[in-house]
Order: sequence, then structure tokens, then C-alpha cells
Amino acid sequence: MNMDIVLGLQWGDEGKGKFIDLISEDYDITARFNGGANAGHSIERHGKRITLKSLPSGIFMKGVQNVIGTGTVLDPVSLRREILNLKEFDGTIEPENNLIISAKAHLVLPTHKLLDIFMEDNPDYTPIGTTRNGIAQAYSNKILRQNLRVGDIDAPDFKSRIERILNRDYSVLAGGDTVLPPWEEISREFFEAIEFLKKFTRTETELFLNTALLTGKKILAEGSQAAMLDIDHGTYPYVTSSSTTASGACSGLGISPKKVGEIFGIAKAYCTRVGNGMFPTEIFDELGEEIRNKGHEFGSNTGRPRRIGWLDLPALRYAIMINGVTQVILTKADILSGMKSVAVCTHYALEDGSMATISGTLPENGLPVLKQMKGWEGDITAIDDASNLPEELKTFLSFLNDELGVPITYLSTGPGRNEILKLN
Ligand code: GTP
Repeated sequence: MNMDIVLGLQWGDEGKGKFIDLISEDYDITARFNGGANAGHSIERHGKRITLKSLPSGIFMKGVQNVIGTGTVLDPVSLRREILNLKEFDGTIEPENNLIISAKAHLVLPTHKLLDIFMEDNPDYTPIGTTRNGIAQAYSNKILRQNLRVGDIDAPDFKSRIERILNRDYSVLAGGDTVLPPWEEISREFFEAIEFLKKFTRTETELFLNTALLTGKKILAEGSQAAMLDIDHGTYPYVTSSSTTASGACSGLGISPKKVGEIFGIAKAYCTRVGNGMFPTEIFDELGEEIRNKGHEFGSNTGRPRRIGWLDLPALRYAIMINGVTQVILTKADILSGMKSVAVCTHYALEDGSMATISGTLPENGLPVLKQMKGWEGDITAIDDASNLPEELKTFLSFLNDELGVPITYLSTGPGRNEILKLN
């Protein structure tokens, strides 16, 4: 029996949430393997929209178990808020009954968030453009082996151990310019959230997941962020702090690579990225502005405008390669509808006259080479069969199929749950 994986192939916000939501009913378990409250899967339910941060998307489905895995970092304050919001959104949801949290997942502490803000605002550090949720600080303390984990919250000395860390961090911060909230306020909110966390099952999720596989259950591993933001393979230092790739799913959940089945890679028909860092195909003129507005390309957590660029095939081929993607799902082609022509970067031209067709970085003095293709017209959102797609869009898709060497199996044509076409 297999675990399938869904992950983003660009710089995030590819629309993973919608696809995961669509297919998760075919699985017994959905599991998050990396990151924390810095993710923002947007999901539409009954005409309303909600953004999931730390919770897996199967949380909406009765009978689906949801796992927050070992490779994640968990912010108890944010999780409490997220669950309370979710219950307000849909009163029938009961995460107490279908959420299992890894005892080995690391905690995001209130001072991690304050340190994140401090570092982002301090000119002595490289500003990364983080979501200021303290994710990197929690992972750093994990690697330093100075952090506490979800499983520690029941220990009799938990409060004193936490207070030692919080006091230490707080005194470091007190030397900077960050305006610190009152200590009592931070501490009260945090310990209330810890009590709330105790309502949920906390266990060695790797045992739960592997046992489930042995008994024939199907697992869907949900990536957050995306391949080009991977801590090792992404556009460092402007990356996230965790492993976003298929191998990250295996290590983050404690599941052997031998158990992996399909690897679904999600990509937009163009590119976006939030925050700083390399973006070879970035569009700087008003066309970028037009796509941003039409595609609502503003951060789902932070509201920050996303940078816009053309589809970048060298980067996409790279992401497909490092993840072993078996199917590509293309989203947001509807946003490009009505444009006279659309561009795709086919390769990077290098200084010595050669070219790079697959690359995780734009080589120094390399230039992205764009191919212009005829655009398509009309509202493709309303189309319910792929054979009725505009000819220009069919040509675009068939060009991408040839260039990527991996089939594009679905085309998402709108934000709605049913606005997706099966292609092959
Ligand atoms: P991260 O995990 O933060 O990277 O998010 P994500 O990949 O789940 O993307 P996000 O939830 O931010 O989705 C982007 C937005 O695009 C959501 O509002 C989706 O409803 C919407 N969306 C998804 N697919 C399509 C599509 O094909 N067309 C249009 N117009 N919107 C889409």
C-alpha cells in the first residue's frame, strides 16, 4: 500500500489546497510533513473560503484521519486560533476526533515569533521576507537541540523548562528595538493554548502511519510551501526552513521512500513568489500588475502582493526532477485568458553561449529566454470537458507536456472545487 504526495513545484501558492481538498476524499489519512503556521492552503466550502495553516485538508471529511507530522513545527497559540475559527466556519467539524499530532513535532514558542520580527527588522541580518511566525527560529532551536517538543507538554517540569527558554530569549530581545508585549500576556496566552492542545491525541505518528499502511490504508502527504523554497534545493537564502520535497515527506512522516506511489506536482500557468530572492522570469511592467489583480495574487496569510513572472521551465524541470513527480497539475490558466500572447521561459542563455534547460538557479549573467505563444480567449472556467478548451490553450498544454516529459493530468480552471478538468 502506498503514500501519495502533493507538493508545489514553484515558489508556493500554486493552489495546492484546492487539489488536495479535491482528492483527499480518496484517502484514509491526510498528513502534513513540513512547515507550520506559515502555510496558507485556501479552500472553498459551500461558497465560503477558509485558509488552513497547520491543519491538514482532510479535517473537513468525516472518517478521514489527519496527522500533523514529526517534520512540522507546531505553534499552539496559532493552532488554537485556527481550530476555533474552523469550528465557527463549520460547526460540524470536530478535530478532537480526527486530528493526531506527532509528539516529536517541535513547538513554536512566543519568543520565536518575536525573534523572527527582530531579525527581519534588524539591518544586521539578511531580511528574508518571512511570514514572521517564528518558523525558522523553532527549526533553528530544534537543530541546536535546545527546543521542546509536543510530547514534552505533559512533563511535570514543562512549565519551568519553557519559562527558562522564554526568559532567556526575552532578555536577548529586551536589548533590541522590538516592542515587546507584556510578559504576562505572552505567557498566559501560551499556557492556555498548551491546555487546549491537551484535548488532542499526541503520539508517535510514524507508528500510527506505518501501521495504517500495513492494514491497507491510503495516506496523502500534503506539502506546504514549494520545491523552489526547499531549505536545501531552493533559492537559498530566500527559502523556507524545512524540506518541502518528496524526500522531505518521507523523513517528515517517518515513511520509507519504498512506500511512495504517486507524486502530484502543482504548478501555475505562470509564476509567483512572495518575499525576496531570485525570480528569473519576473514581469516588472503593468502586465504583472494586471495578472496580480486578476489572479488575486496577494498572500493568503499576510496580504502581501506576490511578485509575478512567466512560467519558468528550467526551474519547473528541476523541481520535477528532484521530486520524481509523476503527474503535473496546472492551475490558474483562466487568469491568462484574454491575453493576446503568453510567454514561457524555455531555457536560460549562458554567458559562454551554451544554455541551461534545467536549473535550480539562474546562473550568473544567465538570461531567461522567452517563447511567445498565442493566448486564448473566453471564460474557460465554464468548460466542463477538456475537448472544448480553446485550441490555443490545447497547444500551450501540449507544448508543456512535451517540454516537461511528465503528463499534465489535470487543468484547474477556476477557484471553485469543481472547476478542474481531467486531461489524460
Ligand atoms: P501555500 O501552501 O501557501 O503555498 O498555498 P496553496 O498552494 O494551497 O495556494 P493557495 O491556497 O494560496 O491558493 C491560491 C488561490 O488560488 C486560492 O484562493 C485558490 O482558491 C485559488 N485557485 C486555485 N486554483 C485556481 C485556478 O485554477 N484558478 C483560479 N482563478 N484560482 C485558483
